[in-house]
Amino acid sequence: MKILLTGGNGQVGFELQRQLCLLGTVLAPRRQELDLSNEKAVSHWLEQHRPELIVNAAAYTAVDKAESEPELARRLNAELPEQLAAYAAKQQCWLVHYSSDYVYPGTGSMPLREDDKTGPLSIYGQTKLEGDLAIAASGCLHLIFRTSWVYSARGNNFMKTMLRLGRERDSLKVVNDQIGVPTPARLIAQVTELALGRALFTSHTPSGIYHLAPAGETSWQGFACEIFRLAAAQAQRLAVTPERVEGIPTSQYPTPAQRPLNSRLVLNRLEHELKVTMPRWQDQLALTLAELIDLESR
Ligand SMILES: NC(=O)c1ccc[n+]([C@@H]2O[C@H](COP(=O)([O-])OP(=O)(O)OC[C@H]3O[C@@H](n4cnc5c(N)ncnc54)[C@H](OP(=O)(O)O)[C@@H]3O)[C@@H](O)[C@H]2O)c1
Repeated sequence: MKILLTGGNGQVGFELQRQLCLLGTVLAPRRQELDLSNEKAVSHWLEQHRPELIVNAAAYTAVDKAESEPELARRLNAELPEQLAAYAAKQQCWLVHYSSDYVYPGTGSMPLREDDKTGPLSIYGQTKLEGDLAIAASGCLHLIFRTSWVYSARGNNFMKTMLRLGRERDSLKVVNDQIGVPTPARLIAQVTELALGRALFTSHTPSGIYHLAPAGETSWQGFACEIFRLAAAQAQRLAVTPERVEGIPTSQYPTPAQRPLNSRLVLNRLEHELKVTMPRWQDQLALTLAELIDLESR
């Protein structure tokens, strides 16, 4: 099976390369070979290579920058998925796509279900929602995984920023009123492979939207404290301790794009369809942190 993987150099894409090669031949063109902002280039590539499965891990993910670059964000997050979905519908092949907790307005404190009302607060969230809607409207076979707070041992992310700051500073202020679930890119790739295995080889996985995150919930402050606790337990020298991480409200950390306060995700649909129990976010963090420390020591 010929698989197109977009965004193979990103956090999730990097992990997907390892998982998807278990299912077929992965073609993962780099940005220099295929600029996904160029609609004609994408059409030409699809015609030339005729993939039998598409996994779209590419996106415009600079949440704050999207406020000043809405056209580019829309092209990558809405029009590209629509274009890939049109191809998948015509070829009757599966399209896997990744979406975000930022499609929700983040009101209340109840965990969100896949069919809860959307209401993005930012250009990034709005364009991600447009992508989800375009895929559903195309009628193609699709798995849309809505995930949150993605991090990995590679790329730029909160875990790596905190570890760097925690080595430099003896106290930090971190937002404590946004609640969500930190999700490692590796877990996203593993679940994708599991779901695709069922979707491709059985008829057990229905097309649609699935929340994908580990179990549990925390704030960014809670996430930071756990990073420092686990890093210290893994013999890392830090200037900061969890006790020296002060929680602040979002209002004291203004950003160009507004973030939802409530990003708790109900995982029942994924767990039921895949017959898995999602692991605790703290256990996933311990694994990813160990991987980062190992990478840094090489
Ligand atoms: N990061 C999060 O916290 C988060 C949270 C929820 C959902 N998600 C979703 O999860 C998915 C994966 O996110 P991620 O964190 O892995 O993203 P990422 O690390 O930012 O990777 C994005 C990928 O898209 C590629 N890309 C962007 N514009 C391109 C273009 N014009 N041509 C070719 N390639 C282009 C990038 O290529 P280069 O490497 O060349 O830049 C990169 O490989 C996305 O759909 C995202 O919206 C992410």
